[in-house]
Amino acid sequence: MNSSRQINIAVIGAGGVGKCFLSQLSQLARRRPEPKLVLVYICTSKKAFYSAEYASIPLDTAISSLPSSSQTPLPLFGLAEYLSATSSKTVLIDNTSSQEVAEAYPLFLSRGISIATPNKKAFSGSYKLWQDIFSASAESGARVYHESSVGAGLPVISTLKDLVDTGDEVTKIEGVFSGTMSFLFNSFAPTSGSGGQWSAEVKKAKDLGYTEPDPRDDLNGLDVARKLTILARLAGLEIESPSSFPVQSLIPRELESVASGDEFLEKLPEFDSQMGETKAEAEKEGKVVRFVGSIDVATKQVKVGLEKFDRSHPIAALKGSDNIISFYTKRYGSNPLIIQGAGAGGEVTAMGVTSDLIKVLSQL
Ligand SMILES: NC(=O)c1ccc[n+]([C@@H]2O[C@H](COP(=O)([O-])OP(=O)(O)OC[C@H]3O[C@@H](n4cnc5c(N)ncnc54)[C@H](OP(=O)(O)O)[C@@H]3O)[C@@H](O)[C@H]2O)c1
Repeated sequence: MNSSRQINIAVIGAGGVGKCFLSQLSQLARRRPEPKLVLVYICTSKKAFYSAEYASIPLDTAISSLPSSSQTPLPLFGLAEYLSATSSKTVLIDNTSSQEVAEAYPLFLSRGISIATPNKKAFSGSYKLWQDIFSASAESGARVYHESSVGAGLPVISTLKDLVDTGDEVTKIEGVFSGTMSFLFNSFAPTSGSGGQWSAEVKKAKDLGYTEPDPRDDLNGLDVARKLTILARLAGLEIESPSSFPVQSLIPRELESVASGDEFLEKLPEFDSQMGETKAEAEKEGKVVRFVGSIDVATKQVKVGLEKFDRSHPIAALKGSDNIISFYTKRYGSNPLIIQGAGAGGEVTAMGVTSDLIKVLSQL
């Protein structure tokens, strides 16, 4: 099965993004027959497909057949052994949000296995893990790309890398980095009118599927803090972890420890006045409130939380659940380079992963 024109692909995770990725991989393999892309391993947390001969797993039916497979996933060390025991180059696609898989990236990379992933965990965990990943990549020559870990398929990471690599000086990065927070604030404090009560907007966002099953997982700000950690590190700041800078949680202290998301939603109306006052304060100044992240590169200040914006500001004028990311740099002067669009969704996120894979392929 081995040949220099064959690239083996291993996929961990077959949920919302994984399914779209497999479909895009199937189209890519048809459009670009060289090098031959061979799916040799696929797994979820319970089921797997692979063979000792690295036989090609059919791309179109891999996911639908997984539930009936009798194979279970290889332990990560065993997977690294399996994937590196062939002369073909291999790319691992991590479509999970698993910390355990993320922590194994240095192992895979040191075995010459390249990685493309939308998983934020590896790049926003400890600074040591970040260093281990990039030094393993530099030593072995295996590549690692993670475009969709910030802003899904929006070209946020590649743009920042290009700015830095071409010698521009990034002074500030600011934006709305969460589709959930974008949707919530665009309906709670629209530029055109008064908007609804905070608790009603949170419930609506949950009912429409914009929030995690427990909305507190969005409202604690950690997801945005992880994205800021990644961008700040790429801009050259040694951020130790997503908890090493101020992150404003929108969970009332009294509701932090209630047992379930449902109980949280039931009690949230009791705290509507807190967010209502914040909105009214902004309105008095002719502004609207938004949940943003910012990185001031010169002063090394990273923060996540509520800010007031003029109604005409691009951040205030955002629509739906879109993300917006502004790069202020020496070359762009006072008019930032702005990237805006859908920052979530299976297809656009998988697009970022597939384009990462194409970048890896061009370098193998
Ligand atoms: N969805 C989006 O819009 C979006 C946007 C940007 C970034 N992302 C990132 O993309 C990644 C995937 O998101 P998703 O929405 O596709 O999640 P998902 O629907 O929850 O799917 C996750 C998949 O990973 C599998 N998995 C989890 N832990 C695993 C493990 N330790 N070993 C093997 N398989 C494991 C799950 O298997 P089981 O079903 O068996 O548990 C499932 O197939 C996440 O890192 C997410 O943050 C997603």
